[in-house]
Amino acid sequence: MSGHGVETVKVALGARGYDILIGAGLLERAGAEIASRLPGVRAAIVTDEHVARHHLPRLVGSLEAAGIAATSIVLPAGEKTKSFVALQEVVDQVLAARLERGDVVIALGGGVIGDLAGFAAGIVRRGMNFIQAPTSLLAQVDSSVGGKTGINTARGKNLVGVFMQPKLVIADTGALDSLPEREFRAGYAEVAKYGLIDRPDFFAYLEANWREVFAGGPARTYAIAESCRAKAEVVARDEFETGDRALLNLGHTFGHALEAATGYDGERLVHGEGVAIGMALAYRFSARLNLASPDDAARVEAHLKAVGLPWRIADIPGDLPDAERLLGYIAQDKKVSRGALTFILTRGIGQSFIARDVPASEVLSFLTERLPG
Ligand SMILES: NC(=O)c1ccc[n+]([C@@H]2O[C@H](COP(=O)([O-])OP(=O)(O)OC[C@H]3O[C@@H](n4cnc5c(N)ncnc54)[C@H](O)[C@@H]3O)[C@@H](O)[C@H]2O)c1
Ligand SMILES: [Zn+2]
Repeated sequence: MSGHGVETVKVALGARGYDILIGAGLLERAGAEIASRLPGVRAAIVTDEHVARHHLPRLVGSLEAAGIAATSIVLPAGEKTKSFVALQEVVDQVLAARLERGDVVIALGGGVIGDLAGFAAGIVRRGMNFIQAPTSLLAQVDSSVGGKTGINTARGKNLVGVFMQPKLVIADTGALDSLPEREFRAGYAEVAKYGLIDRPDFFAYLEANWREVFAGGPARTYAIAESCRAKAEVVARDEFETGDRALLNLGHTFGHALEAATGYDGERLVHGEGVAIGMALAYRFSARLNLASPDDAARVEAHLKAVGLPWRIADIPGDLPDAERLLGYIAQDKKVSRGALTFILTRGIGQSFIARDVPASEVLSFLTERLPG
């Protein structure tokens, strides 16, 4: 299997453009791919303890075989690693290994490692080469593409960081076999999101083929490649998020509010699950505003349910705040400008758009209806 059916997606950003390689067994080829693009480099691999156990030896072996000397920086797994403390650790170890600006930092892991390592690569020696080797589904279809990096602070998530495009993304779809099922499913919500934003045919493909995507093989590679094409297109139009890129937030305004309402307790709700419920709510809300057909909202709900994702607020275990409090979380969200609520709404499957000036009163009565009990 290994090496067969590799798809290449190009991110068209001129001098900052790059390839995304997607396929099973790519970590074995990483050394050769890097050596041909960045001859003579040395590398620092940043990873976490879970990913190191499953995949680090393959990457190190592949780099060695290509003559690339590598040092490994292994951090604890989890969102807490997106911190100033961990950033300092990575910076210190990269400098201790005496890497130069022309050398490369490789992020081997999920979005946490990608965001942290990318930020470090962006600031050490005013910017080193950076390569993403994403190992979670979310990282392969979302966080490794587009160049946003950063860490969290006590005042909120992702508040400190830089735009730092990688030189290459190596997405080994086989690496997802060791990913916990719940993480895979949560990442799948972001895959479905691309269909719901502007790719109705892709959404129909997923409705028919999601089992094959979950199982692995060519359907998984195709779904990841199509997701990367969708994200790359948006990023090429709006690299620094001054307009269109906000479409990628479909489901995220409601989703972030639900994450905040559950205290970011990953036992109750992980990000992709919040996005799944958020997308179902965005479609229902659009139907309520007579923008989209209730049948489209039902289609979205049915698909999320079929794959085993939560799709309504009642699917979240434990108590939730009332509609007023939820609206409060939405109003704190960064997509609020001058009191008006900005939402990604839709006119149908694959027909999403940015709606500014959504009245808070509409959101409130909608949430009141949707809350259980
Ligand atoms: N930069 C961006 O544009 C962007 C976009 C979306 C999300 N993000 C960020 O991404 C982060 C979430 O990413 P995530 O969901 O990948 O979380 P994560 O990096 O914490 O990975 C999830 C869990 O899966 C484990 N894991 C990863 N790959 C594995 C594998 N192949 N086998 C076994 N275990 C594996 C990790 O160790 C971790 O425990 C958040 O911090 C979010 O802010 C960034
Ligand atoms: Zn997301």
